[in-house]
Amino acid sequence: MTRHLRTPAAAVVLALLVAGGARAERHQVIFDTDFGTCPQDDCYALMLALQSPELEILGITTVAGNWSLEQGTADVLRLLEIAGREEIPVYAGADMPLMHEPSEYARTTYGSWWSDQPPTAPPGGFAQKKVEPLGAVEYIVDTIESRPGEVTILAIGPLTNVAMALRHRPGLAGRVKRLVIMGGAVATLPDGAGNITPGAEFNFWVDPEAAKIVLRSGIPIDLSPLNVSRKSSFTAEWFDELVANPTPVTELIRDGGRLWEGAPPDAVVHMYDQIAVASLIDPTLVTTTELYVDVDSNPGISYGTSLGGPRLWPGAEGAQKMTVQYDLDWERFIRMFIERVGGPLR
Ligand code: RIB
Ligand code: CA
Repeated sequence: MTRHLRTPAAAVVLALLVAGGARAERHQVIFDTDFGTCPQDDCYALMLALQSPELEILGITTVAGNWSLEQGTADVLRLLEIAGREEIPVYAGADMPLMHEPSEYARTTYGSWWSDQPPTAPPGGFAQKKVEPLGAVEYIVDTIESRPGEVTILAIGPLTNVAMALRHRPGLAGRVKRLVIMGGAVATLPDGAGNITPGAEFNFWVDPEAAKIVLRSGIPIDLSPLNVSRKSSFTAEWFDELVANPTPVTELIRDGGRLWEGAPPDAVVHMYDQIAVASLIDPTLVTTTELYVDVDSNPGISYGTSLGGPRLWPGAEGAQKMTVQYDLDWERFIRMFIERVGGPLR
């Protein structure tokens, strides 16, 4: 595969759009993440966002999910240093879901959101950069209120911070431009099984109450569920191409491991949060349909399961219609991803 188109491709794309008369929309973004350093998908996703001129990251808010809040915050501060993007502020948010108490199942299944262990040092040690004194919820409220109708929230972890902001300030939903969410699994579409329980996807399962509040908020939503994640297949070959050009970020990625820890060399890894970010950069990468989507927050076998349908059904009164991604132009996506994340830092 040739790599000679690598040089500032993202900037070239934006310049061509402008030169061609197309309106290149630059999205002002709050990036809400249950961050973990690479190879965690949130890390790859943030790098894609940072390397994309279509996105202006106003601030990063952290939430407990893949890891504890403290671990995620420590890791994202360090990533910003590695990427040379220390100017972006980081705000720590919720260290626990709204209601979900960690059970034995939670402790032995994927994710360390429940952990109260002190964070381990990120690659290269703890960052010099500090977390902001303002909390994530206050930051979300203040930012949306000061820029009504202008800010998109990219939420790639449990939706606790976003739900708390909406609860904190009634009327806030009407001032959010758009919400792009990685979360859920829609059984009425292909590849709609859960990844934590038979029906529930991780982000929605960690905080189903928050997911329900956010999905019913009235904010225009693009939902990037497991259905579309499962159209991705990140192999060792793509990985090698991603890290072919040494930069501080590709070295971090390379050192983070070829694929997930313990995976065999021929393993295929799905991409999750990266697709949500890419869909905001270029919506033509994904195929979508309009569905009502709601989340089961009742304790029991369906806790955290999302359901989607073309019309409302009994029990889903109050659910809202949203744009649901279910297919992906993988080849075009992965080429854009490698070009940007594997390329020179902006
Ligand atoms: O189910 C996929 C989601 O949970 C992603 O946001 C990923 O970070 C994972 O932990
Ligand atoms: Ca995530």
